[in-house]
Amino acid sequence: MTRIIYVNGKYKSYFDALIHSEDRGFQFSDAVYEVYEVKNGQLVNARLHMARLSRSLGELKIKPPMPENALYCVISETVRRNRVQNGSVYLQVSRGVGPRNFLFSAVKTQPTLVCYARNLDLVQQKKVFERGIKVITHKETRWARCDIKTVMLLPAVLAKEKARAEGADEIWFTDRDDIVLEGGSSNAWIVKNGNQLQTHPVNSAILCGVTRLTLIDILRKYSMKLIERAFSVSEALQAEEAFITSATSVIMPVVSINGQRIGGEGAGPVTKMLREVFYSVAEMDLL
Ligand code: PDD
Repeated sequence: MTRIIYVNGKYKSYFDALIHSEDRGFQFSDAVYEVYEVKNGQLVNARLHMARLSRSLGELKIKPPMPENALYCVISETVRRNRVQNGSVYLQVSRGVGPRNFLFSAVKTQPTLVCYARNLDLVQQKKVFERGIKVITHKETRWARCDIKTVMLLPAVLAKEKARAEGADEIWFTDRDDIVLEGGSSNAWIVKNGNQLQTHPVNSAILCGVTRLTLIDILRKYSMKLIERAFSVSEALQAEEAFITSATSVIMPVVSINGQRIGGEGAGPVTKMLREVFYSVAEMDLL
């Protein structure tokens, strides 16, 4: 459990880590976030997460709360104070506090920065990898700028809850032509013809996942073919393997879509291989 949370310059105990009621993150979801993986005391893909955070802030015209190297120090100290060796860091920046007004240009605000870190149950993660996850598809209900990592997550919250109620672990958002866009909190992949990997191209319909970028580097390194082209649900059902990627799940095999089995039992050989080499290709920074 998270014990210490960084809020605007102070490290607070869990129950004292409070945000103002007129924070625009709370009122308008006027905030962005990042989730970083911590592996063996190292921060995974920090540079790529920082670049995406900076892009998200820029797209929404939110002032960066501090320079990148200072953010890194906050993350490092938060991880240290929570004694996290393997887990995740959550970092959120909102536009700040001000009298409720749709126009952000009409209120003077200072960004609110929150950071916490928590440990992950590696045994449980391994178990999930071995059994694989079940996915159900869900028509897209989000806004048209899914490339920005905002905290406006209610469509994913509701869809994931529906998945849970139906005995599944993740949802894949689909467009009106049954094209798979991405997961509720992950990117979606399929494997075809032995070593061809297909995933949705980067545009405003999906988040450019940092784990996705590492996977592309792995494919390059191992001379595997990347197909950045959208696939339909029926194409996915015919694939040899399917999996999701995210900072918290890394790579997780998908064993069924809408109750229909896909591939063989558990993780397929390509999914296993990608998982095994992942940290030898990802950028790792000491905390
Ligand atoms: N989610 N797509 C969506 C909609 C996501 O929310 C995420 C990550 C990803 C994968 O991105 P990355 O590989 O950079 O983690 C794709 C995080 C983990 C979350 O919201 O908890």
